[in-house]
Amino acid sequence: MEKASAAEVSGSYAALEDRANSLFRAEPSKDDPGIPEYLKQTYWWAYLHPAGVRFFERQWLVNFILWGNFARLRDEVLHELGETISGRILQVACVYGDFTPTVAARLTSDSRLDVIDVAPVQLENVSKKLDSFTNVMLHRQDSTRLEFQDGVFDHVVVFFLLHEQPMDVRQETVREALRVVKPGGKVIFTDYHRPGWLNPFRYIMAPVLLTLEPFAMDMWHHEITDWFPRDLTVASVKKELFFGGLYQKVVITR
Ligand SMILES: C[S@@+](CC[C@H](N)C(=O)[O-])C[C@H]1O[C@@H](n2cnc3c(N)ncnc32)[C@H](O)[C@@H]1O
Repeated sequence: MEKASAAEVSGSYAALEDRANSLFRAEPSKDDPGIPEYLKQTYWWAYLHPAGVRFFERQWLVNFILWGNFARLRDEVLHELGETISGRILQVACVYGDFTPTVAARLTSDSRLDVIDVAPVQLENVSKKLDSFTNVMLHRQDSTRLEFQDGVFDHVVVFFLLHEQPMDVRQETVREALRVVKPGGKVIFTDYHRPGWLNPFRYIMAPVLLTLEPFAMDMWHHEITDWFPRDLTVASVKKELFFGGLYQKVVITR
């Protein structure tokens, strides 16, 4: 892939913005959330550059990046949401592959999935996978400043977003996800975790993450609950590990 400067990337997503906005199936954001600095600096090649989006939007590739665990981890989220999904669900940030259409396929006809992402090119990309679904709404929003009222969602899903965010941003994302879910609703976080000593992926993934994903090692050294607001009380926290501890699912019932 040709390397683009931050300015070129900025130009390309500005150009895409109008097209993407016309594709969103929701009211435009109240404020332009802008593109966060860490996304421009660290992840432009994966999420902002149109060539990067074309490259990564392949099921086999996202599955390979997760060492063959994509479907299993996706299905763990579906398991929490139920065989049929009713109510209003929020997906915080787009995901490559069939994650969103698979969730959408389980919605009952009177239910609704809202998907937010800060990058117009990501919303445009996901919209192409959702042609056959009328009850999915896309919104350009920043995960740290959701434009939804408190407690409006039955469940909230955050799939492999936290490890890509700097600590202070991640803390705000967690706070917002917990704010917008109803009492009794679930927030389902799926992300990296520190593998056990005997797991060879501990030694393979440490240099990979340190090189490509500068904030990801936080997931090895903290619990997701460490980023909860201090005054928050929740009904329950359930944590499960996968693939020798490299991945975690943490389900918070509010
Ligand atoms: C969910 S994460 C990683 C998903 C996973 N690695 C995959 O297979 O696609 C990637 C998404 O998060 C979005 N994102 C990053 N920071 C964000 C923020 N502050 N608010 C909303 N979306 C954000 C990016 O634009 C990108 O679409």
